[in-house]
Amino acid sequence: MAKKRVKHSIFTGLVLLTLVGSTIGGQSGIARAKEKIAPYQDPRISVERRVDDLLRRMTLDEKIGQMVEPERNAVTAADIKDYGIGSVLSGGGSLPTTGNTPTDWANMVDNFQKGAMDTRLHIPIIYGIDAVHGHNNVYGATVFPHNIGLGAADDLNLMKRIGQATAEEVRATGISYVFAPVLAAPQNIRWGRTYEGYSEDPKDTGKLGSALVKGLQGNVGDKDFLKGTHVVSSIKHFVGDGLTEGGDDQGNVTEYTDQELQKYIKPYKTAIKAGARTVMVTYSSINGLKTHGDYHLITEVLKGDLHFTGFVISDYNGPQQIVPNDFRESIKRSVNAGIDLFMIPNDWKKFISVTKELVATGEVSQSRINDAVTRILRVKFENGLFEHPYADRNLVSKGIGQAEHRAVAREAVRKSQVLLKNDNHILPLKKNNTNIFVAGKKADNMGYQAGGWTISWQGGSPQWMGQPEKNLIPGTTILQGIKEAAGTKSKVDFSADGSGAKGHDVAVVVIGEPPYAEMFGDRDDLGLLQEDIDLINKVKASGVPMVVLLQSGRPMILTDQIKDMDALVASWLPGSEGEGVADVLFGDYPFTGKLSFTWPRNMEQVNSHDKSNPLFPKGYGLKIKQTGKKEHSR
Ligand code: BGC
Repeated sequence: MAKKRVKHSIFTGLVLLTLVGSTIGGQSGIARAKEKIAPYQDPRISVERRVDDLLRRMTLDEKIGQMVEPERNAVTAADIKDYGIGSVLSGGGSLPTTGNTPTDWANMVDNFQKGAMDTRLHIPIIYGIDAVHGHNNVYGATVFPHNIGLGAADDLNLMKRIGQATAEEVRATGISYVFAPVLAAPQNIRWGRTYEGYSEDPKDTGKLGSALVKGLQGNVGDKDFLKGTHVVSSIKHFVGDGLTEGGDDQGNVTEYTDQELQKYIKPYKTAIKAGARTVMVTYSSINGLKTHGDYHLITEVLKGDLHFTGFVISDYNGPQQIVPNDFRESIKRSVNAGIDLFMIPNDWKKFISVTKELVATGEVSQSRINDAVTRILRVKFENGLFEHPYADRNLVSKGIGQAEHRAVAREAVRKSQVLLKNDNHILPLKKNNTNIFVAGKKADNMGYQAGGWTISWQGGSPQWMGQPEKNLIPGTTILQGIKEAAGTKSKVDFSADGSGAKGHDVAVVVIGEPPYAEMFGDRDDLGLLQEDIDLINKVKASGVPMVVLLQSGRPMILTDQIKDMDALVASWLPGSEGEGVADVLFGDYPFTGKLSFTWPRNMEQVNSHDKSNPLFPKGYGLKIKQTGKKEHSR
């Protein structure tokens, strides 16, 4: 407190130091120094009054500065001070230059924050990051299953706990804003972001996404809403990602009427009701109109019909796509469409000068700027940033990857596993006196297991950073999980290429997709990789009964191979806790996961959206009883 006072007392033009006679606590007559701070700096005053007060004090330059969000690698603390920048982001895999520990992160964010606190009005930045399955950029963080698996788990209480754990880990790095969750209900699994969606049904997406939002942000009306160990959430990508023609990433939505689109707007309505305070706009277009320039959707629908009072953020360089090669026109249209905060990673100086000019010529109104800045400041006040701009170092030391969070992730993994086939009761596996053969390099590799958006943007993917790394993140691989669960009286042998199966009681074969993320994940052919087909054939030839675990970001076409499998489990992208897979394989916990997507027989069904005769319908998932001694999970 004392420190704060000293700081306040140097605020130029804002602090009046007055000597008043104190009558408190019977100390009448004792002169005390009492500072008077500006209304916007007083946490006892309502957020709306604080916003009004601050806005009135701001110059146009200061307002426009608040509207921009550069990438951490393209901005310095001095820039933040000089330009009065409002926000900074880390894109996927954009890590501190000093290292990837929580302290490196907190130091980096605090350094930027120092620049903001040194500005005339001391307006803090809000730092944003893609914590889309846990705080996935940070080494040692708990990495939860990607959303498609959480859709299969379909457990609201679990979602809330995942949100809370993620928020705590994000706060442990001095960050208070995350770009999650995705509320898309992908209709074409060709799309490389399918795994970021919970379900093909927008109702489920809204329900599960809202529970995550509540976990991240806390409950509306509670004292600690958005504060303390909570963060601000950005639901994304408004709206229609997942509905594009051919499932193209950043594509065009042409097959939906306005009325049909309402179904996909609904999850946003639900999540906004649950308190979501920021909304990110989609790269995709609707009937050729880029949503970043869509006044109707952003201003009339989102801010109007949905009564959204937080801020709207653009996607990464999204505004510039409106009129390619015409920056000025693109910015004009996107500001006027109603975007408030601009994720312009590199060209942020250009954004500032162009926007200033657009206001000077009257092409953008002062009132539009005031609306944008009002919304940004409102969320910053709600987020408690003015009172606590810097990282809470107590959280830094304990937050990341803590055992309690890993337990939640393990629970999420086991609840996300969907049992699709189980002939002759091959599952659950027996624990004792069993000779188990585990096959496939994907059984023992954290890079494959965690998928995209893990440490790097694309994850440990071949096209992005070489072969997936076995030790990309700390945690337990599926193989380790199996070894632990099998018990000391069983034997577990492993072969990456499937040689040596003969003589074992059972084989567990792990196949799947290499990691990928947006822009690199769209596929015309979702058939199994040849290396996986070879692996299945090899193990099949040994005559050993085979359990296949498919580790993938979406259903894959395996109609021709399923007959060779005695059991099949959709494991999705489980993240750091491979033991969760073993938990259900050995019957320590029951299989409860259900498909949140239709599982097609072939690519024709994918391409024609034909869900009438799938390999497995949405909602499918075999149940087998728990045989182990552990308690049922909550
Ligand atoms: C993605 C967003 C993400 C942003 C920042 C964009 O390319 O579409 O989902 O939040 O990058 O990393």
